[in-house]
Amino acid sequence: MKAPRSWRALAGAAAICVFGGGLGADAADDPAGLIKYRQVLMQQAEATMAGMGVYMNGQIDFKPGFADQALALVATARDLANLFPPGSDKGAPTNAKPDVFANAQMFRGATMRLGQDVTRLAELAKAGDEAGFKAQFVVVVDRCGGCHERFRAPL
Ligand code: HEC
Repeated sequence: MKAPRSWRALAGAAAICVFGGGLGADAADDPAGLIKYRQVLMQQAEATMAGMGVYMNGQIDFKPGFADQALALVATARDLANLFPPGSDKGAPTNAKPDVFANAQMFRGATMRLGQDVTRLAELAKAGDEAGFKAQFVVVVDRCGGCHERFRAPL
């Protein structure tokens, strides 16, 4: 099919621009790449929260787009536990504490609780429940901070 191929070519070109490398054959995740990827996802989450934070500060009205943005947080939360496999504690600078790997089950639990919280945030946003959204936003912020306290070294 034509369309997917041209899309791939475009994506490939973009990847080369950003990372300065070619597209290799499918390979297992290399730890440095995985560390980079999980940090980028976290930065995205931070930016998403910062955008909603403008609303929380009362500087803009509620935006219908918050629902989809919260769904992006759901996607991140869903993948998070799998982005810290054994061995990805090195290979690139990482702030993941040793406990992420030593207590992988507890870490997984923390990612699942984030998933529940942001799923609720998305539901409230979709329903246009502003009061509920505001309260849940605070819950999510606490969830981020709680996990960082436990599992992330100071940045
Ligand atoms: C389940 C635990 C957990 C939750 C929940 C969590 N984080 Fe993180 N976060 C981490 C860990 C671990 C790192 C360190 C990753 C690394 O350096 O390899 C991190 C790193 C970060 C970073 C730094 C990324 C970088 O550039 O190095 C930011 C920003 C961040 N998180 C934002 C958030 C936000 C916003 C939320 C809530 C929406 C959140 N995190 C929820 C565990 C979590």
